[in-house]
Amino acid sequence: MTKEESHTVINKLSGISAELAEIRSDMEGLSKNAAICNEENFNKRAEASDFLEFHIIDRLDSLRPKTAEVTALKDRAEKLKTQLDEIDSKLFKKIRAGIRAGQYSGAYFKNLVSKYFDLNAADKRDEPDYDNLDIFINRLLTAEPPPRETRKLEPEMVFYQKTPARVIFELAEKVNFGIDDVFFDIGSGLGQAVMLVNLATGIKAVGVEFEPAFCDYAKRAATELDLNRVTFINTDARDADYSKGTVFFMYTPFKGEILKDVLELLRKEALNRKISIITYGPCTAAVVLQRWLKPDRTVIGNIYEAAVFTAAP
Ligand SMILES: C[S@@+](CC[C@H](N)C(=O)[O-])C[C@H]1O[C@@H](n2cnc3c(N)ncnc32)[C@H](O)[C@@H]1O
Repeated sequence: MTKEESHTVINKLSGISAELAEIRSDMEGLSKNAAICNEENFNKRAEASDFLEFHIIDRLDSLRPKTAEVTALKDRAEKLKTQLDEIDSKLFKKIRAGIRAGQYSGAYFKNLVSKYFDLNAADKRDEPDYDNLDIFINRLLTAEPPPRETRKLEPEMVFYQKTPARVIFELAEKVNFGIDDVFFDIGSGLGQAVMLVNLATGIKAVGVEFEPAFCDYAKRAATELDLNRVTFINTDARDADYSKGTVFFMYTPFKGEILKDVLELLRKEALNRKISIITYGPCTAAVVLQRWLKPDRTVIGNIYEAAVFTAAP
């Protein structure tokens, strides 16, 4: 080995030992942090879990040589991660049982979620913004992994992406839902918006979804929670019956001619009764041009803020 080569090896080894020392100290810090094991601290636990996965386990995986200390540290990190996952599993088992027992509906549901998150914390967003609240709601509403699509979307149809949970809580607050209102999510995906609106307001909520696997998944999730005022219909939005709906939500499920056709169906519904349409994402720009609808604001600057439109008969 030349002098230069041995310098490179020495530098590399001292880099590794510095990195190992940093990981060791991070691991010590997490192990001593009793707060993350407190059931109520979901947020802190989610951050710790992320840190364990991406800053400890992943880094240990990339370290060479795999010394006994590297292996022992990884083992410790994985054990702590499993321990944190188990605390969450117990927490969600308890909350889901409470939902089934009817303990959390309307204000009770919002109070429950507010114990873990500040639902009024709204930032300016220029894209769908997800946070730990979405992880919490995912775990709370569904117990199985999402399915694969089975149908090819037409070119104007938009693929599945969920509305951030924070936006759904905001809209539940913004729209003054009455107990006789019926909420429709047009292009309801895995059903989260439908279930959340039902839980946060107690009103009837219906999802219309083109993809059968998504619709079946949503139905199972609602049945497991005994949400008996929630329905999912597997159909193309152009063929759905909107006659029972009063508030229609669209997170840009489609564009172009399909959007035009569905808006025309809603316009016809609006001839018979007062309805509201809530949009989120790029479809807001098309809906704002509809002269039969009145937006809740004079300027809609941000498409990633739910916009409410009303139509009087
Ligand atoms: C952007 S995602 C919105 C998901 C859901 N609203 C949510 O917030 O979680 C759009 C959804 O619309 C569905 N979709 C697209 N075209 C449709 C159509 N013609 N009829 C019904 N659903 C459609 C897609 O399968 C997808 O699940």
